[in-house]
Amino acid sequence: MTADEVLETLPITDWQGPFAPAVQRHAVDALESGRVLVLPALRFVVTAAEQRFLDAASLGGSRKNISLDPGTGALGNSALPPDDATALSGMMQRFAAGATRLVTGLLPGYAPVLERARTSFRPAEIAGRAYSPRHDDRLLHVDAFPTRPMAGRRILRVFSNVAPDGAPREWRVGEPFPDFARAFLKRVKPPLPGSAWVLQRLGLTKGRRSAYDHFMLGLHDAGKLDAAYQADGPKAEVSFPAGTTWLCFTDQVLHAALAGHCALEQTFHVPAAALAHPEQAPLRVLERLAGRALV
Ligand code: SIN
Ligand code: FE
Repeated sequence: MTADEVLETLPITDWQGPFAPAVQRHAVDALESGRVLVLPALRFVVTAAEQRFLDAASLGGSRKNISLDPGTGALGNSALPPDDATALSGMMQRFAAGATRLVTGLLPGYAPVLERARTSFRPAEIAGRAYSPRHDDRLLHVDAFPTRPMAGRRILRVFSNVAPDGAPREWRVGEPFPDFARAFLKRVKPPLPGSAWVLQRLGLTKGRRSAYDHFMLGLHDAGKLDAAYQADGPKAEVSFPAGTTWLCFTDQVLHAALAGHCALEQTFHVPAAALAHPEQAPLRVLERLAGRALV
């Protein structure tokens, strides 16, 4: 396969609309069909005073991201002294606001119900790190998180490459979700009766894990753990230059991040009811394959 099958490029230069109805339609159709929307001319500007944060030394502990909680405004996992942490929060808030304006302007059908989730800053170099396969995002996967049940809500992510040395962010993308799901779903055992209740009672999930969440996690793991699929399965390389912004439904696009440093990322959750083409969503694809409702 080639990257062109997965990428859709738009010449947007501003985080703020208004965007023409034809552009909006193009964007929603591309995203919901499992494409990555690339905005090569949309740069997130890091101020001169903020340049000093573009360094892995900003990271606390051994974790890969600094995160900003949208509810509390708390900054997680930074190694910075309080004044610098406040300034970095400001940069991340500005990115979050820009990403929110972009998504609400470009995808107005989502705007009334869009949920802003975490903002992350990813200063560390991806290449050369050691991870267990399940946690290794250099392997093709769809996003699914063990503690956060989505119950059919979508995961929409906006990324900007802000690498000060111009390093591109190198991704790999995979085959269409329905093809991946058809091949892998039969390898995922159904949830044990009562397991969702137990996970919730033990505080291991925030809310009840649906069968949909169970199967998405299973697909995430089964894909990453299949070394032959990773080596020989359909895939294409994609390079996002510094100064580029891109967005996609990461619960649908098979993706892997192979190299690069200093990206900003904003996660949104989109309720299924807001989708223009719900039949293309992973929930409906899995329900058709399973022959039953999964939420
Ligand atoms: C991922 O979502 O797997 C990582 C994407 C990135 O950090 O570029
Ligand atoms: Fe991912």
